[in-house]
Amino acid sequence: MADECFRHPRLAAVYDPLDPDRRDLDPYLRMAADTGARRVLDIGCGTGAFALLLAARGTDVVGVDPAEASLEVARGKPGGERVRWIHGDATALPPLAADLATMTGNVAQEITGPEDWQRTLRGIRAALRPGGRLMFETRIPARRAWEQWNREATYGVTEIAGVGAVESWVDLLDVNGPLVTFRWTYVFAADGQTLTSDSTLRFRERQEIEAELAAQGYVVEDIRDAPDRPGREFVFLARRPESVR
Ligand SMILES: C[S@@+](CC[C@H](N)C(=O)[O-])C[C@H]1O[C@@H](n2cnc3c(N)ncnc32)[C@H](O)[C@@H]1O
Repeated sequence: MADECFRHPRLAAVYDPLDPDRRDLDPYLRMAADTGARRVLDIGCGTGAFALLLAARGTDVVGVDPAEASLEVARGKPGGERVRWIHGDATALPPLAADLATMTGNVAQEITGPEDWQRTLRGIRAALRPGGRLMFETRIPARRAWEQWNREATYGVTEIAGVGAVESWVDLLDVNGPLVTFRWTYVFAADGQTLTSDSTLRFRERQEIEAELAAQGYVVEDIRDAPDRPGREFVFLARRPESVR
C-alpha cells in the first residue's frame, strides 16, 4: 500500500509544490526520445509529472499508481485526459506491449518486500513488448542518504498558492539493514492541521538488482549516473529480450 503522503488528498495536493525541481526527469525524457518510444508505461506515476510531459509530446502514456489521491491530482492537471491512468501496481496490468517502462522518483525503493519486487519486475516485463526497455533509479546505499533525513537538514516553509504556508520536515525513525524508515511531518498554517506520513524504503545494492533483473528475464544494458544527483543514484536500463525465453 502506498504511503500516507501519496494517499492523503491534502498531502497528494502539495506533493508537486513541495518538490518542484523535476530536472530528474530529463534523462527519462531523453531515453524515451532516443529509443523512439511510442507507448510508455510509467509505474508509480504519482501526480503524473513525467506521464504528462511525455503525453504533451504526443506519446501514448499509461500511468499506474496505487495511490488514488495522487492519481486524482494527475487527472486534474492540464493534459490529464491524454494519459490512461490505472489505479494499481505493475502486478496486474492489462496487455500493453509498451516500448518503455519507467519508475521515476525512486519508486523502486518503495517496493520493499522481495516477493513484491520480483512480482513487480515480472509484471513490467509482461507489459513490455519484446525488445522493450525498463528504466528506473534507486539511491546508492553507500551514500547513506538517510543521514540527511533529519529536521535540521530538511525543515522548510513553502508558500503554496491556494493552500497557504506549509511547514515540512523529515525525521529518521529506524535503519534496519537495507530498510530505512522515516516520518514526514506537514503543518498547514491555514488551519493548523498537522499530518504525518511514515515510509520505509529499501536500499538495494547494484549486484542485487542486476541479479534480480536477470532472474526475471531482463538483459541489463547499462547502469548510469543521474546527472542531477551525481554519484548518488544507480539508474538502471534493462531490456526484455526479443526472443521468447
Ligand atoms: C516518490 S513518489 C514518485 C512519483 C512519481 N514517479 C514522480 O516521479 O513524481 C513514489 C510513488 O510510488 C508509488 N508506489 C508505492 N508503492 C508502489 C508499488 N508497489 N507499485 C507502484 N507504485 C508504487 C507511490 O504511490 C508514489 O506515487
